[in-house]
Amino acid sequence: MRINKNYLSCIMKLLNSYKTKIAGVELDSYICNASGPLDSTLKELENIAKSTSSAIIMKSCTIEPKEGNQEPIYTRLPLGSIQSMGLPNLGYQEYVKFAARLKKYNKPIIASVAGLSVEDYQQMVEAFQNSDVDLIEVNLSCPNLERKPQVAYDFKQTEKVLCKISNLGKKPIGLKLPPYYDLIHHKQMAKLIEKYNIRFITCINSVGNALIIDSKTETPVIKPKRGFGGLCGDYIKPIALANVRAFYELLKNKISIFGVGGIKSGADTFEFLLAGADAVQVATTFEKEGSNCFKRINRELKEILRKKGYNSIEEAMGKLKYL
Ligand code: DHB
Repeated sequence: MRINKNYLSCIMKLLNSYKTKIAGVELDSYICNASGPLDSTLKELENIAKSTSSAIIMKSCTIEPKEGNQEPIYTRLPLGSIQSMGLPNLGYQEYVKFAARLKKYNKPIIASVAGLSVEDYQQMVEAFQNSDVDLIEVNLSCPNLERKPQVAYDFKQTEKVLCKISNLGKKPIGLKLPPYYDLIHHKQMAKLIEKYNIRFITCINSVGNALIIDSKTETPVIKPKRGFGGLCGDYIKPIALANVRAFYELLKNKISIFGVGGIKSGADTFEFLLAGADAVQVATTFEKEGSNCFKRINRELKEILRKKGYNSIEEAMGKLKYL
């Protein structure tokens, strides 16, 4: 049977139209998990591998294993969650080993490193450069460590880290950033990103040091840091969208952007796509709904694109219209 070349190319286009790329690494869909919930153990990571999450993103790790903060450390809220986990993780060497075990799932594997010092970042990035991961997300924005300010709010400290980690190997490096609230800070960070050849960013981490009070008990809802913790979910979506957009305008075509913050539906996802995200990560909704959320959100996104007449992810990417 002769197959018409045009017909074949149409089919190929259709098959590829919902794929995307982060720093040159292909993702089968626009939606994956975020470093954070349900990604600390091999069992949890295998659950992600078997789901339709388009990547396997691992829990932010430290040099030594860490138990995390004292309970209660996580509370679901009507419109999201607040957390102060305190980086519970098995230590980076376990995640290097996990990457080797997860390779068989043929899905991009993303390490996430959270150093407690500049040297920690260097040691862990070097180890993951020599591992089976595809990308390395450098978390400069964990808000939940006592007496350890978020690195990315200190541009001098950020530069010290970037200087040490940017030339350790060929795997693309990205930064997980906190929300910024003034455009001058987006500009300053964008300059560092260009200077040190950072290939992708993840915007945003939780909004740090929020306080939720239970008026019945007259206490905060979590224990660590006198109740101050990272706010996630719907509450932070507008801040996340603004950060994606601000960096997209400053760095489009130079880096890839993961959007994260309050994504629970295809409609939320479509907003991130318009803002300029190359892919999105889902955290709170994954914790609440389990791994079926990836398939559902992807289906909803495809439906929105179809109804709006977009034939691919790429066609809508960054195409926010101004008033
Ligand atoms: C934790 C929280 C974060 O927002 C983060 O980026 C990394 C770790 C935590 O408390 O475990």
